[in-house]
Amino acid sequence: MLINGEFQIDQKQLPPGTRLIDVLREQVGITGTKEGCGRGECGACTVLVDGRPVLSCIVLAARVSGAVETVEGLAEESTALRAAFARRAAFQCGFCTPGQIVRGTALLRRGLPESEAELRTAMSGNICRCTGYEGIVDALRDAEADDGAAPDVPFADQTWSRTS
Ligand code: FES
Ligand code: FES
Repeated sequence: MLINGEFQIDQKQLPPGTRLIDVLREQVGITGTKEGCGRGECGACTVLVDGRPVLSCIVLAARVSGAVETVEGLAEESTALRAAFARRAAFQCGFCTPGQIVRGTALLRRGLPESEAELRTAMSGNICRCTGYEGIVDALRDAEADDGAAPDVPFADQTWSRTS
């Protein structure tokens, strides 16, 4: 497999039973992909394999031979979406956010579903315990409408303050 166009992995060298997420986090050392449930239920570990979202916690690395894209590899492509997440407060703890960004980027590539219900269904494999999903849906719509201009709230520059 080729990870983010940069890391070539020979599956024959991996211990039996190695999962895709283990390759990413432990072998390669890129930790943007998060492990939540570890059993295919929450979507935190979502990455793209040949452009399709997969749950890397339940995929054996030995079965992956294509191009893997993680949230790190999608950083440039997801600039507008990440900025929209910040602008729309589409995250709180942030644990689900890499998976949301990865699945959202895959959806944006082919165009978002028109109805809100369809969009929520398309994102339903990615659970968020914090936000209630409104901000996530709004951020996806913002990113789709983005004209390529520089975002007005750069992701890395977002600042927060407490009122009490
Ligand atoms: S960590 Fe993979 S689906 Fe939850
Ligand atoms: S922001 Fe906390 S789980 Fe989604």
